[in-house]
Amino acid sequence: MSVQAKAKKVTTHVLHEMKLRGEKIAMLTAYDFSMARILDSAGIDIILVGDSASNVMAGNDTTLPITLDNMIYHASSVVKGVTRALVVVDLPFGTYQGNSKEALCSAIRIMKETGAGAVKMEGGEEIKESVERILSAGIPVMGHLGLTPQSIHKFGTYVVRAKDNSEADKLLRDAHILEEIGCFGIVLEKIPASLGGQVSKELKIPIIGIGAGSGVDGQVLVLHDMLGITQEFSPRFLRRYHNLFMEIKGAVEVYIQDVKNLDFPNAKEQY
Ligand code: KIV
Repeated sequence: MSVQAKAKKVTTHVLHEMKLRGEKIAMLTAYDFSMARILDSAGIDIILVGDSASNVMAGNDTTLPITLDNMIYHASSVVKGVTRALVVVDLPFGTYQGNSKEALCSAIRIMKETGAGAVKMEGGEEIKESVERILSAGIPVMGHLGLTPQSIHKFGTYVVRAKDNSEADKLLRDAHILEEIGCFGIVLEKIPASLGGQVSKELKIPIIGIGAGSGVDGQVLVLHDMLGITQEFSPRFLRRYHNLFMEIKGAVEVYIQDVKNLDFPNAKEQY
């Protein structure tokens, strides 16, 4: 039986075991109780309460405005809908870059007030001290390298990262640092597939890709993108499994007509 099928609860140890056995890890984002329940009952391994909530839930252009309180609200709703998956929560912009004490306080609030199993942080060497301090408090940390959306104003664009040798070398160095200090996994976003495969081969911890090719240990997508709720965003790495925007719109249009034509409610739908 596969490690994934055997596990009643996905832990960081289960994820390591999956990598050892070559079993791929499936991860999706969720931001609310109802969606989290569907994902968990489908057997997803990791649910990420991503700061992409800033985009898909709050309608912001970037992930920068979302607050720690907002993330705690989303994460505590998600945790209530989950019995099996590991729930990982993004530390939002501005809650860990200042100093390691602030980072630890932010991570502790997430763990205490949501019941999640881990936090995720963007960056490498520059956030090493904060990551170490959080890990020393017994909080599992997932790294995030490559296109790190909290740094969008530094990058200036959402193009593929680490195409040149110096950025690729830094990413490799950062990945090794994150593994050495004790991160249980790393998300690699929008980088060449060959680099994704190299990181996965060189590191023992699971590497989860979003636009990082097929040579990594698992994949993550933003739920609203893969379900086709968002319409305007279509990077090459995104596979849409549904067109929920059109399906929901169609259902709402029928409802509007039913109400206006006095078809709803009918005799059986009232007291
Ligand atoms: O916030 C998020 O949804 C993420 C994924 C893109 C990995 O960090």
